Amino acid sequence: MTKRTARATARANIALAKYWGKSDVALNLPAVPSISLTLDGLVTTTTVTFDEALAADVLELDGRPASAKETARATELLDRVRASMKAPSFARVVSANRFPTAAGLASSASGFAAMAGAAVHAAGLSWSDAKLSALARWSSASAGRSIFGGFSKLPAGVPGDAKLAAKPLFGEDHWDVRIVVAEAAKGPKKVGSTEGMERSRLTSPLYDAWVEKARAITAVIEKALKKKDLDTLGAAMEQSTFAFHACAMSASPSILYWQPTTIAALRTVEALREKGTSAWATMDAGPHVKVLCHAADAAKVKRALAKTEGVLATMVCKPGAGLQVK
Ligand code: DP6
Repeated sequence: MTKRTARATARANIALAKYWGKSDVALNLPAVPSISLTLDGLVTTTTVTFDEALAADVLELDGRPASAKETARATELLDRVRASMKAPSFARVVSANRFPTAAGLASSASGFAAMAGAAVHAAGLSWSDAKLSALARWSSASAGRSIFGGFSKLPAGVPGDAKLAAKPLFGEDHWDVRIVVAEAAKGPKKVGSTEGMERSRLTSPLYDAWVEKARAITAVIEKALKKKDLDTLGAAMEQSTFAFHACAMSASPSILYWQPTTIAALRTVEALREKGTSAWATMDAGPHVKVLCHAADAAKVKRALAKTEGVLATMVCKPGAGLQVK
């Protein structure tokens, strides 16, 4: 019986210019371009073993057997790899997250990036980063960005373009910035991002305006990133965040990801700016506030967020590396 195995690590990323909405649901193509920063310290390690003795794919997540739904999502990715294998077989996938509980960050981006890297390597295929990114992107669009370290961009997808991939913009040494995460609530969010963005597309009166504006916002962010202009980038990043949240809030039924602590943390960020610290907020499909600032200001920003009413925990993240396959 033949067994082929490989292990990969990938890290979470935070979007500076947000992805929200799909132009092709079947191919999981984003309707808007996005730009992200891959973060150090939030790591998923995944081992994939193709094993002829298996009668089905088996997925283990953080030491527990995965649900049928989770396993089906892994099988979809594995099927796309098996389509290129000479002697395909089922696989055992063991995935573990090293995410400090304070992170309040989702692991699907790092999870699918690591799974893509491990599966392709275990299959004995040598795929380019772009091909790996397209594979991860198909499972979860934000995962396409975690193939790369530092700052990367996922363009908007033209319907039908199955090869759409993220591309690296700048490595993790480009700019010494930090993301300070403020955890605003415990427990899983009620509406996941896949469902939230579909509901926004189908029912929000603001959706078309969001898609149109997102292109211009992303262009501002890309230019500011190149020039390392934190104030210009930060203001555009906040607009990207608030525009997609407004889109979600105005969907039917409404999707409101914020908690009272979210607003309190946003006020803290405003107050920091009023006192001269360049600190800018962003939020994903959840209540947590993530603050972009210069490395030299991270300790001050962390202290201010930790003192904010309702904030449960804080952590500081540096720019991180991309996919690593062993
Ligand atoms: C708000 O990548 O999780 O975090 O492609 O449906 O799996 P799917 O969605 P996902 O969405 C992330 C949305 C976001 C913004 C972002 O990361 O760009």
